[in-house]
Amino acid sequence: MEVRGLAVYPGSFDPITNGHLDIIQRCLSVFPRVIVAIVENPEKAPLFSTEERRAIIQALFTEEPRVQVETFRGLLVDFVRQVGAQVIVRGLRAMTDFEYEFQMALMNRRLCPDIETVFLMAGESYSYVSSRLIKEIFRYGGDVAGLVPPIVLEYLDRKRRAGDLG
Ligand code: PNS
Repeated sequence: MEVRGLAVYPGSFDPITNGHLDIIQRCLSVFPRVIVAIVENPEKAPLFSTEERRAIIQALFTEEPRVQVETFRGLLVDFVRQVGAQVIVRGLRAMTDFEYEFQMALMNRRLCPDIETVFLMAGESYSYVSSRLIKEIFRYGGDVAGLVPPIVLEYLDRKRRAGDLG
């Protein structure tokens, strides 16, 4: 298989978890460069603004020139084309991810047949970690240390102090 230069790893990253970081590291062992593409999801109400999500991820990769952080609106395939990439990377944690991912990959292929979706398996210690559960556990006072990077804990604490956790 020809491994081309640039991969796009899209997601909501609300917030980024250690599972996402695991996928980004795996991505760098296959592709020379990766764009972490944060979706600006107007229909969802994310806990963290697009700018907060971007600031968190950028802070995590200041020392890693192979990782670029961008935000996008609209169709993912349009963004991928616009940046000149040919590959979308998605992480798979368990079989439960498969149906949704399969549907998106085939739909993206139909929209843009030149773009390939590549799946990377998350490390098994992250198989149960999701941004949704992190937010829920934190909101109810549970401990999420070790599941997200320390900067996310700081941002979560800030939300709690501002009374923004709901
Ligand atoms: O982290 P998520 O929420 O699972 O990521 C989902 C994401 C951002 C990859 C998906 O919602 C997406 O691609 N959104 C952009 C709009 C789009 O292209 N939709 C059609 C997908 S087939």
